[in-house]
Amino acid sequence: MNLKECIKMMGVVLILGCAQSSVAQLKLNATNIDEVISQMTLEEKVHMCIGCGMSFGSDVKFPGTAGRTYDIPRLGIPSAYFADGPHRLAMSSKRDFDSRFYYTTEFPSSTTVAATFDTDAAYQIGQTLGSEVSDYGLDCLLAPSINLMRNALCGRNHEYYSEDPVVVGKIAGAYINGIQSRGVSACIKHFAVNNQETNRNNNDSRLTTRPLRELYLKGFEIAIKESQPWTLMTSYNKVNGLYTCEDKALNEDILRDEWGFKGVVMSDWNAGKDAVASMLAGNDMMQPGQESQYKAILEAAKSGKLPEEILNRNVKRVLEFVVKTHSFAGYNFPNTTDLKGHAQVDRTIGAEGIVLLKNQNVLPMENIQKVALYGTTSYDMVPAGMGFGATGTGYYCVSMVEGLRNAGIQPDKSLIAQYQKHLASEGKRLFPNGKPPFSLTPPARAEEFVPSDEELAAQVRDNDIAILTLGRTTGEGADRRIAEFNLKNKEGQLIEQVAKAYHAAGKKLIVILNICSPMETASWSAQADAVICAFEPGEEVGNCVTDVLTGRVNPSGKLPMTFQVKYGDALSDANFPYDYEFVMPSFAMGTGMNLKSEKKEEKPKEPVANVDYTDYKEGIYVGYRYFDTYGKPVAYPFGFGLSYTTFDYQIEQSALDNDLCTLVVKVTNTGRRAGKEAVQLYVKAPKGGMEKPSKELKAFGKTKLLQPCESQSLTLTWNAMDMASFNEKTSEWQLPKGDYQWMVGASSADIKGSVVKKVTKARTLKVHNAMNLKVAWK
Ligand code: BGC
Repeated sequence: MNLKECIKMMGVVLILGCAQSSVAQLKLNATNIDEVISQMTLEEKVHMCIGCGMSFGSDVKFPGTAGRTYDIPRLGIPSAYFADGPHRLAMSSKRDFDSRFYYTTEFPSSTTVAATFDTDAAYQIGQTLGSEVSDYGLDCLLAPSINLMRNALCGRNHEYYSEDPVVVGKIAGAYINGIQSRGVSACIKHFAVNNQETNRNNNDSRLTTRPLRELYLKGFEIAIKESQPWTLMTSYNKVNGLYTCEDKALNEDILRDEWGFKGVVMSDWNAGKDAVASMLAGNDMMQPGQESQYKAILEAAKSGKLPEEILNRNVKRVLEFVVKTHSFAGYNFPNTTDLKGHAQVDRTIGAEGIVLLKNQNVLPMENIQKVALYGTTSYDMVPAGMGFGATGTGYYCVSMVEGLRNAGIQPDKSLIAQYQKHLASEGKRLFPNGKPPFSLTPPARAEEFVPSDEELAAQVRDNDIAILTLGRTTGEGADRRIAEFNLKNKEGQLIEQVAKAYHAAGKKLIVILNICSPMETASWSAQADAVICAFEPGEEVGNCVTDVLTGRVNPSGKLPMTFQVKYGDALSDANFPYDYEFVMPSFAMGTGMNLKSEKKEEKPKEPVANVDYTDYKEGIYVGYRYFDTYGKPVAYPFGFGLSYTTFDYQIEQSALDNDLCTLVVKVTNTGRRAGKEAVQLYVKAPKGGMEKPSKELKAFGKTKLLQPCESQSLTLTWNAMDMASFNEKTSEWQLPKGDYQWMVGASSADIKGSVVKKVTKARTLKVHNAMNLKVAWK
């Protein structure tokens, strides 16, 4: 080879080298996603649509977390990492061969957050959680869970916000905006109509399109439009015969086409049966991913059953998410977080979500030095619910003993000793082998302990007041039973004896409800001088409750759901699995099990009502929409909550301009203590259109801390079409013309003022005719 040839040859080698390295150097960025996809093998594309298993074991980056997306280093595609919420960043607090603790904050359960009726509080919780996600190097919190509280016994109600879709949507939207303000993703879930845990992987929610649109999808619609979450999780259940992850009408037509969702849709963990159907339906990613799903998708892609453009579309959505993450940016996370500061956020918002249900001149406590604490829950409090969201060892949980002591109040020492002994022996009885095994449902709780008459007499003598805490908790994969809603025999005995003994001595009894979801109160609340519903305020629970007891915080929470008098009163009670012994199999994530029941089915059986399917025959009459419209008495109405001060409401302005409805209400603190007030705006539709509930919440707002005599004008806004109803026959939202009554209230049962506004021209909005009920109900 002469020199010329040699140079030419080198040139070829150089050019070839460049060509090769330009292929190898193609790395993902926000603007080259299509090009990157074009460089992927079919196998890689399929992998991108499937998770990499749950992050358990010691060789994973974030032990005890929910999973991650597939990584292709060759193309500069890192994994993005998921961890569960909603009330804490769920990951193992201990790692193998690592002396550190990786603690995260136990924030208030979602129900408590909703009870604040304060979108700023929800934003702050989201923002603080978002900081923890970011600080520990993760990318996405699998939260919020925003299914409607259809029934008081639903096992995951603590993760949910409310029986009303406006509360759900507004609180969720603010929480998501808070999370995403930290540069990490929220994942709104479980889409949709996932309102029971019994047979959750196979249950078919059967309902007509009016309640579907007005109640079960509405919260998602509001939250998504207000916050554009980066990701969404479909649910385990079916809706009208189709698994939600396999339902194109839900994931494409409604979610994307009607609402404009732009993010990535992932399945719930091991949900659905047919991964190819999920891909086609716009469920972009299967989590946590199974080998069988990989094979099925690959085969379908090769055979053309799954068109490559659909696969590319799904991959593109996953990559659009990945490029936004901290993992993609290579964020150098501190791997530690401000636990002290976040505990303060929990204490503040946990207390803001506490609802004062009854107060006969007892609260705030004054001149109280010594307290007799009753109820096992006073000593073993429930900071938040169970489930995957609770994975890992909790950081700490402040008991009532600790909370009172922190406020300089002395809990009775002999009672502390008695309860210590009782809890230890209950622990041995319930868990003879030591600790309860890991489970998604809470371990059995100790039975109540009732002191003898002599012991009680001494306690009455030695203390200024009695405080008695009742506890209820739930998790995932199981619903509550009626027995959990009702007062247990020993609890009844305890309340009765304590009330009698203290009242005889002219002393008072305060009952605290540290509960996941409503319980029965009507039969016993007369015996208590005050009742406080704390729900589950997070790790600072004892401090939160004490802050309200002492008046350090003036309670301003309101009930985001109705407290019915007894189970059976709500219309959905007739169609809920309250009496079915369902055994959730020992949980096997990532094994490809589609969980049903451990019981072997020998021969095909008739589908079981409320287990294999659940008929939502109550339609739109969920919660106050039913109780209020039909005049059915309740224990405490939706939106109810007392304060240590009083408020006056005055409507200052109201306007219906085209699409925008505005009402300005001036709220004045007319009492003697500083306080906040949550104001609710209900609308009563004119007669003549479709049948409607007597009132429906359309907006709400909360004042700042108002000093005595101080006022604040709150501006409440909503859209005219928010007052429309869904016509199932024509698949359209209809706003009939006529007089609409706008009511401002302190609760659904306490309306303070109203105005009438005329809609002069009827309006309609046509949407997809989708997800119709496929069976004829008897
Ligand atoms: C739950 C989801 C959760 C997922 C991952 C499922 O069992 O339903 O809410 O995000 O597990 O842990």
